Amino acid sequence: MTMTPGFRSPRKSAPNPSKDEPMPCCHICNTPFEAFLSFGQTPISNHFLLPQDVADEYFFELAVGFCPACSMVQLTEQPDRERMFHENYAYFSSISVRMAQHFEAFAASVRQRWLDRPDPLVVELGSNDGIMLRHFAKDGLRHLGVEPSANVAEAGRRQGVDTVCAFFDADLAEKIKAEKGQADAILAANVMCHIPYQDSVIAGFDRLLAPRGVVIFEDPYLGDIVERTSFDQIYDEHVFYFSLSSVSAMFARHGMEVVDAEPQDVHGGEMRYTIARKDARPVHPRVAELARREAALGLAEPATFARFAGNVARSGMELVAALADLKRQGKRVVGYGATSKSATVTNYCGIGPDLVEFISDTTPTKQGRLSPGTHIPVRPYTEFSAGPPDVALLFAWNHGAEIMAKEQAFRQGGGKWLVYVPKVEIL
Ligand code: SAH
Ligand code: TYD
Repeated sequence: MTMTPGFRSPRKSAPNPSKDEPMPCCHICNTPFEAFLSFGQTPISNHFLLPQDVADEYFFELAVGFCPACSMVQLTEQPDRERMFHENYAYFSSISVRMAQHFEAFAASVRQRWLDRPDPLVVELGSNDGIMLRHFAKDGLRHLGVEPSANVAEAGRRQGVDTVCAFFDADLAEKIKAEKGQADAILAANVMCHIPYQDSVIAGFDRLLAPRGVVIFEDPYLGDIVERTSFDQIYDEHVFYFSLSSVSAMFARHGMEVVDAEPQDVHGGEMRYTIARKDARPVHPRVAELARREAALGLAEPATFARFAGNVARSGMELVAALADLKRQGKRVVGYGATSKSATVTNYCGIGPDLVEFISDTTPTKQGRLSPGTHIPVRPYTEFSAGPPDVALLFAWNHGAEIMAKEQAFRQGGGKWLVYVPKVEIL
């Protein structure tokens, strides 16, 4: 297993489990597996702290491994779900204009392609602030959002989205079916990869779905993570790093198959999988194409992940070297976007307020708080625009196109971007 370089982290972990410690077992098929990469002790990625909370901050070992039986890449351990998803959940989906457009188009494609029964029902897991379902709600379509984080669920209701504040699982699916009947489409964006108990979730889909109903979900794509060394996609909430091969194996256990797989140019590279009961829907040729691409990439081979781990260590070291160099030159560096992903980068590399003065973020609930683990102050965007730094460290690199388009004045004023995906460079 590649070890955490640790850099300057005050909490260097001991990611060297004793020989007596049991190996983790695959969340999907229960096969024991080993970690190929550890980032060391890492905090809850969306837990932006008040100064008085610092002493009690929770850490766990962020490590990732590959199941040799079903090829699922996954965390070896994950914090309890209530530590991550609660009434103060920090992520509001609608903060990004690009994502709002993306989900409007997603909703339109579902209506056009998949809702072929009269008076259809659409259920969404992780409906958050209603970014997708509001498009069904405004046209009076039957829908239900399932959202356990009470604050964002409430924001969804304010958008007219019918929302139940709960974690989706087989029992909840049964209740929804009893109340509303079978679902024509079950949607899930950036949430399937959050849920370790997939057996219960997929059993729930099976109970809730109409015979020709579909599950459509999208999550960060393992192929993109490996190709771009986007290691900051690995954090507490993301227990799984899906590929077509692992997703196919996971649903095959419940008599379902992947009928389409469409790459999405959001969140740094995602895949949208459409799932149906076996033989209920034709399989699009894109599925076989993707299987070929994955074979070429080696996404079901352990050697690929050993190489990836080496690339991660190199990337982390280059980023720290670049920041140390900027500090020597007396440059002001400010982070752009207090993303969940940045918790992995800052904690793995030991990036604190001595290297990054503050992180600019437009989310009111993150402002005035400290970033998890390394405690960089998070400040409103107005502080960035009023006193632009020499260099902006682009933590929200997945929104790079949107951000760079609106920050032209920063560049024209001599500001530079420090990026680290797909490689460390100053632009
Ligand atoms: N779909 C939105 C939000 C993604 S963030 C988007 O793509 O922008 C993940 C969301 O899933 C959070 O709002 C979280 O509260 C929710 N979530 C976590 N576990 C869940 C579960 N078991 N069932 C339903 N939603 C869940
Ligand atoms: P995001 O990368 O979407 O998610 P994750 O938390 O899953 O890694 O988070 C983007 C963060 O960046 C969010 O806190 C809002 C912030 N942000 C800005 O401050 N300005 C911007 O222009 C954009 C697009 C995002």
